[in-house]
Amino acid sequence: NKRVKIKTILDTHPIGSEVTLMGWVRTKRGNKNVSFIALNDGSIITNYQVVADPNLISEDILKKCTTGACLKVTGNVVESQGAGQSSELNATTIEVLGEADPEKYPLQPKKHSMEFLRENAHLRMRTNTFSAVFRVRHALAFAVHKYFNDKGFFYIHTPIITASDAEGAGETFKVTTLDMKNPPKNSEGAIDYKQDFFERETNLTVSGQLEGELAAMALADIYTFGPTFRAENSNTTRHLAEFWMIEPEMAFYDAEDNADLAEDFLKYVIQYALDNCAEDLAFLDSRLQEEEKVKPADQRSEMGLIEKLKFVAENEFVRISYTEAIDILRNSKPNKKKKFSYLIDAWGADLQSEHERFLVEKHFKKPVILSDYPKDIKSFYMRQNDDGKTVAAMDILFPGIGEIVGGSQREERMNVLTKRMEEMDIPQDEMWWYLDTRRFGATPHAGFGLGFERMVLFVTGMGNIRDVIAFPRTPGNAEF
Ligand code: 4AD
Ligand code: MG
Repeated sequence: NKRVKIKTILDTHPIGSEVTLMGWVRTKRGNKNVSFIALNDGSIITNYQVVADPNLISEDILKKCTTGACLKVTGNVVESQGAGQSSELNATTIEVLGEADPEKYPLQPKKHSMEFLRENAHLRMRTNTFSAVFRVRHALAFAVHKYFNDKGFFYIHTPIITASDAEGAGETFKVTTLDMKNPPKNSEGAIDYKQDFFERETNLTVSGQLEGELAAMALADIYTFGPTFRAENSNTTRHLAEFWMIEPEMAFYDAEDNADLAEDFLKYVIQYALDNCAEDLAFLDSRLQEEEKVKPADQRSEMGLIEKLKFVAENEFVRISYTEAIDILRNSKPNKKKKFSYLIDAWGADLQSEHERFLVEKHFKKPVILSDYPKDIKSFYMRQNDDGKTVAAMDILFPGIGEIVGGSQREERMNVLTKRMEEMDIPQDEMWWYLDTRRFGATPHAGFGLGFERMVLFVTGMGNIRDVIAFPRTPGNAEF
């Protein structure tokens, strides 16, 4: 198989040589003297022009070269006559590997709505937009591994099936082999999980952090990158029931080291995409600008996609405490004019995404690292500050996204941790293994979690998190 990828042809420019391309027809146009087929093989956003002369390619074959059909084309690379592309392929043979009946193929060579493409998620990667998104997604995943590998971090695979609820939010998907229509009961009349596969109640993980902490107490600098699951019934453009999370965990780091690493990491990953996904980002940028045009002027974003990515990669993030943020929000115009649907009046309130976005998009116009939240709105494992009211938590807020990272310095002091677990009704006997890290060789440590899809959303400029994961899992949606 002498197959050459379109990206290679565009990179190496082999004018005069014979090559074989394999890919899918995006469009075909022409007349009885010549046909032009725009072929895409996934290697790059660009469709490559195949020129088919009816003296060489039979009418029967050409008829089958319809949108969506898969072709093997052999021919000669020649200088392109038309504008835009530097070369094109003069076909000598075309083999139709797979036909696509134009009466039935759902994707037409026109603009489809995002809703329609979501309903056709099994085919949507064949569009320019989605193929670009998934190439960028790949590059971002690679950049994540490269960043940590270069820094001497070790990639730890934490379990998907677990007995713990790391975030304690009670939003887990249960895992069971019991017949839940008729489950076995114990003497107290409750479901007898002793008879289940793991002989206990289990669920899909909401976070690999707790296991990550165990690893950090041995390997010092580790990260996880895996799927996480949350049964929260939030039908928003920012939530998935199944999403991928990157969770670094570092021994000997305090809250400030943690924030420094997170900022450096986010900037690196964005810069990596700028350096390695130029064509796809240029396409996604122009796509976004088309979309912005139809919005009312006051809702249009001030920057183009690439401009925005450069801005974030090159400028320092703002760092403020929760308490400072509350002051800003309380005195903000939308709060005073009752424009927020949830008004900020007292210290202690949790911030909603409208507040986060106000801080980032209107007030600072920069990514914001918000730290030191009230302990009552954060998880049990976060380290208590000396004021007794706040914990060493941090959330990183991004324009257009809101929260992209959540993290903290961890509570390494056994007595403080167990007291907090008591207050929050977290059973200590089930977490004996976690508490062992505080019993034996405890040390300050910290970490954070980046929601990978939120990062892909930010970098691609897409509007809905359902469009940056191939097969989104959301309430009522697990078709593909
Ligand atoms: O803030 P979260 O819940 O933090 C944790 O899970 C910690 N254990 C992380 C850590 O310190 N190791 O989630 C972290 C990030 C959020 O900031 C957000 O980007 C993303 O995960 N996230 C979601 N992304 C998509 N859909 C959802 N339902 C998400 N929930 C959280
Ligand atoms: Mg969070």
